[in-house]
Amino acid sequence: MKEKVKTQKAKVGEAPGAMAPVRLLQLAVVLLTFSFFLFPFSLASSAHEPITTKVRFNKELVRILQRNCLSCHHPGGIAFSLATYDDARPWAKAIKEEVLEKRMPPWRAVKGYGDFSNAPTLTQRDIDLIVNWVEGGAPKGEDKDVPAGPLFSNDWQLGKPDLTLKAESGAAIAADANEYRTFILPTNLKEDRWLTAIDVLPGNASVVHCATVYLLTRESGQQPGGTMIQVRNKVRVSLPGGASMIGDVETVLATWIPGQKTTAFEPGFAQLIPAGAVFGFAVKLHYRGSGEPAKDLSAVGLYFAKTPPRKRVSVVAINDIDGMITASTQPQRIVLSSTAQTDTEAIAIRPSAHPFITSLQATAYRPDGSQEVLIWVRGHQSDWQPTYYFKRAALLPKGTRVEVIAYLENSGENSSDLPKPVRWPEIGNQPLCTVLTSSIVVAAAPR
Ligand code: HEC
Repeated sequence: MKEKVKTQKAKVGEAPGAMAPVRLLQLAVVLLTFSFFLFPFSLASSAHEPITTKVRFNKELVRILQRNCLSCHHPGGIAFSLATYDDARPWAKAIKEEVLEKRMPPWRAVKGYGDFSNAPTLTQRDIDLIVNWVEGGAPKGEDKDVPAGPLFSNDWQLGKPDLTLKAESGAAIAADANEYRTFILPTNLKEDRWLTAIDVLPGNASVVHCATVYLLTRESGQQPGGTMIQVRNKVRVSLPGGASMIGDVETVLATWIPGQKTTAFEPGFAQLIPAGAVFGFAVKLHYRGSGEPAKDLSAVGLYFAKTPPRKRVSVVAINDIDGMITASTQPQRIVLSSTAQTDTEAIAIRPSAHPFITSLQATAYRPDGSQEVLIWVRGHQSDWQPTYYFKRAALLPKGTRVEVIAYLENSGENSSDLPKPVRWPEIGNQPLCTVLTSSIVVAAAPR
């Protein structure tokens, strides 16, 4: 499976779609030759797999793909297109396998451990229909049955933002890029604002793999531009002309991956963006080349509360690790915990998706003796680091201990380098898509 993904990556765009039909064609020729001997009089129909299903691409399949897959799998998207019958047909068997193995759409939270409002909507019925379609010969159906209107849209999910931030200039992305770039986005806000949602709109969806948005608290300097180096919750921004500034960084709630439902806080909840104390935002974009040189200028959209919030959302990072991770094929365990100093509740959680991590679980131990698993994610997932929003907030009364247990593998399997011992803070600052903390987002009563 790994192999397959790799070979396709080199040819994102036309090749995966083009390779498979070649193979199909060869198959068809072989079948045709055979059928000529066996059924010389029914050539045309026996050249195809028999159709044994009533499920049609243009009817059921396209609607399932539209809801669950096309946000990434559209022409010009981060993955090959599945938008039309001709696009999707060569992938039929792979589609069946990916959905049965629950690898697509990407989502690593294990069912039954935390209940999340932004979980993918692919249902068992959808999966059954997909399997039925593939096993029944993957028929196309009638053109008139395709849903009217565009099948996907690359626009702000929550409507036009109150404030849109863009870098001063775009980025040139090489055909084979796999890199992270950070853009500083000053806000120049004159007054405090309460943030209710944050979104990213890729300028070029074929190269923007994912994004993380940070809030930069000013300590000195306030020039735009420059690059950012993050060390724990401190950030050093190198400014044009050689100057640099050190500031505090706070991860804003949003991580962005294509197709993830943009979630606004419940009414009455918001995160404070203090005027003056804030330098601005930084967006770290993970770029993946699309096979051709490309340009990107992505935008960050901020949505502000219309009325003063009841609850203040803040970000708690559980990141105080300072251990060695030895080079070994044995899984290694990291246990960390943080105790709530006031009555709070968790409204979302974002486990780290460092490639060393193979499994991570967070559990709340309350003072009354009750306990609740907040989330369990499993499998290598360095590519995507979603923020998981709870359907119902998990109460964390004062004194609640949130314990995070992560299993790591530093065997060389997950990277191109030979395995070597590393200190956790060092790999924490590797250019990953997101910060390496298990961030529990809690909402506390306003001060
Ligand atoms: C968040 C983005 C995203 C969503 C949503 C998504 N995919 Fe994917 N998918 C990807 C990426 C990225 C790849 C790797 C593409 C590449 O290597 O070119 C991929 C690969 C695949 C593959 C090829 C796997 C292989 O290597 O054989 C299939 C099949 C697939 N997706 C099907 C689906 C289906 C079906 C859905 C919806 C039920 C879906 N995907 C939803 C991003 C997504």
